Amino acid sequence: MKDSKKNDKLDNTRRRFLGVAVGASLAALVVPFWLGLLDLMGYSKKEKGAPVIIAIESLSKEGRKRIVYDGKPAHLFYEGGKPVAMSLECTHLGCIVEWKKDKRKYECPCHGGAFSDSGEVLSDPPRLPLRRLPLSIKGDKLIVGESQDNV
Ligand code: FES
Repeated sequence: MKDSKKNDKLDNTRRRFLGVAVGASLAALVVPFWLGLLDLMGYSKKEKGAPVIIAIESLSKEGRKRIVYDGKPAHLFYEGGKPVAMSLECTHLGCIVEWKKDKRKYECPCHGGAFSDSGEVLSDPPRLPLRRLPLSIKGDKLIVGESQDNV
C-alpha cells in the first residue's frame, strides 16, 4: 500500500514533468511561426497616418531627411533621381534602425540586423526590406502618406 502511494506520487511528478517538457517544446516550435506571421502582417499593414507635407527644395539630392510619419521616423531621399520615403522601423521586431552615413547602411540596435542604403536586407534576422511609404508630388511639395494615384 505504501509502495503504491509512492509510485502514484512518482507517476504524477513524471506526468507533470512530461507535460511541461512537451508544452515547452511545442512553444519553441510555434512561437517563431507566429512571430514571422506578425512580421509579415506588420509589413503589409495599410498606411493610416495623416499625410506629411514637405517642400521639395528642403530635400537635398545627396542627403537624407528625417521625418515622422504615423508616429514613426522615416527617411526621405533621392533614389535614381526620384524622391522616395522609407520607414525606419526594422522589419524584424520594429526597433528603429540607425543610418550609418560613413558605411552607407542602416543598422538595427536591437538584434544586429542591417539594411542597405535603399533598405534591402544585408544581414539577419530581418527577412524583409525596410518599408517604402506612399509618396506623391504636388507642385513643389512632397506628400508622404499619399500615393501618386490619389493625386
Ligand atoms: S528589431 Fe531589428 S534586428 Fe530585431
